[in-house]
Order: sequence, then C-alpha cells, then structure tokens
Amino acid sequence: MTADRVAVVTGGASGIGLASCARLREDGFTVAALDLSPDGAAGAADLTVRCDVTSEASVTSAMATVAVRLGEIDVLVNNAGITGSRDATVCHQTPVEDWDMVQAVNVRGPFLCSRAVLPSMLARKSGHIITIASVAGLIAFPGRCAYTASKGAALMLTRSIAVDYASAGIRANAVCPGMVYTPMTSWRLDQPRLRAEVESRIPVGRVASAAEIADAVTLLASGRLAYMTGHPLVVDGGMSAW
Ligand SMILES: NC(=O)c1ccc[n+]([C@@H]2O[C@H](COP(=O)([O-])OP(=O)(O)OC[C@H]3O[C@@H](n4cnc5c(N)ncnc54)[C@H](O)[C@@H]3O)[C@@H](O)[C@H]2O)c1
Repeated sequence: MTADRVAVVTGGASGIGLASCARLREDGFTVAALDLSPDGAAGAADLTVRCDVTSEASVTSAMATVAVRLGEIDVLVNNAGITGSRDATVCHQTPVEDWDMVQAVNVRGPFLCSRAVLPSMLARKSGHIITIASVAGLIAFPGRCAYTASKGAALMLTRSIAVDYASAGIRANAVCPGMVYTPMTSWRLDQPRLRAEVESRIPVGRVASAAEIADAVTLLASGRLAYMTGHPLVVDGGMSAW
C-alpha cells in the first residue's frame, strides 16, 4: 500500500521526528529528514537534507532536492518545533524575539513547507499533510504563552488546508501530543521532582515515548482513516480529558 511512497519529516533528526522517520520507513515509505542539523537522522531516513523551515529559500531548495532524489512527496510531516527560551513564560514577560522565533518555527515553518509541497499534490490529486501540534493548541499550557499561541495557529492552519484542499484529494490532519520524553523536555523530566509533578497531571501516570507519537503519525500516513481530515488527533494519556 505504501511502497514507493515518499514522506518528508521536518525536524527529523531528534525526538518525535526521528522516531517518525524510523516508523514510516518500517511501513514502506521512502523517507527524507529535513533539519537544521540533519546528521542525527542518517540511520533512520533514506535522505537527510539541511533545512531551516523558517526560510522560504531553504524550504524551496530542500523540497526540490527531495523531489529530484526520491520522487514527488506524498506525505509531509510538519514536526520541527521549539518552545522558546525558559524566559518565554506569561504574556507580558515573554521577550518579543522569543515570540517571533517560536511563531517562525512553529507556524511559518508548517506554512512554508505546506506551501512548497501543495502544487505537486494538487497536480497528482493526492497527498497528506500531518502537523505535529500539541494539546497546547487545544488547552492553554500555563506560562507558555508563545508556544500555546503557536500550536493553536498550527492547528488552524491544518484545518484551513483541510477545508481548502479536500475537493482536490488532499488531506491535512494534526497530532496533538501531551508530554513526551525527548531532547525538548528531558531537561525538565530528568529532574525527579519536576517529572513527578508533570506525571501527576497525566491520568495514565507517565509521559509518552517518542515512538508512541510516531505510531499516531504512521497511522495517519497509512491511508487508513481516509475519511478523516482537519482532525486534531490527541495522544496525551488523558491529560486534556480532565
Ligand atoms: N516533546 C513534547 O513533549 C511535545 C509535546 C507536544 C508537541 N511536541 C511537538 O513535537 C514536535 C517535535 O518535538 P520534539 O519533542 O521531538 O523536539 P526535539 O527538540 O527533540 O526535536 C525538534 C527538532 O526540530 C529541529 N528544528 C528546530 N528548529 C528548526 C528549524 N528552524 N528548521 C528545521 N528544523 C528545526 C531541531 O533541530 C530538532 O531536531 C515539535 O513541534 C513540538 O512542539 C512535543
């Protein structure tokens, strides 16, 4: 079913992106990992490309490289993301440059990458754009103003693409993880007191592994759930359910 299909994963050299590259490949996709520092994806992807998702020129060049080397892109996983510095907390204390950088990576990035792959998807009347948002796009994370706002925007970008391109055979869905152990969160989760505090707010009592989020990505990418578009698939151990 997925043989010879091409998937691109942004931020594919670490955490959820790296796990997604490996799982998509297991499922028969030919996989390209795009990242600021792509070397970490070498063992998990068929092609690694240096790309800054905030730069139009970098995104255009990276997507063209993938198309030439691997073929037209069937699945785009908009995964690259940042939380902002530890100073980026509540609104009035968030440095403006932190706000701008978080929106640039988490919102402009998915916009530029989607914009770059959609013409070829339109020409082939098929394609799937999967964006890693967050439960922070559905409920506000305390003290994470820029991040929460960016994930809400990423989710609405997903819905906008879903609505505008459904009739052209193109789908867009989001995955909304809760708390996942990756290099993004390990600084906090490696401190037993902070980890216990985080896990006390998760009904299943533990954080997710990156592989558990990659499972959701591969389920969406598989072509099953083909009637689903514009959907935020929540994978959070029940965190947003209470
Ligand atoms: N870890 C969590 O608990 C969690 C929860 C919900 C959502 N998410 C989301 O999942 C996604 C992946 O997070 P992760 O935890 O695996 O993080 P991570 O820090 O382990 O990996 C992020 C990757 O994105 C890359 N990246 C950052 N800026 C980039 C840019 N401008 N261009 C290209 N690549 C860039 C980094 O180099 C890195 O390889 C993010 O969008 C994040 O917001 C994570």
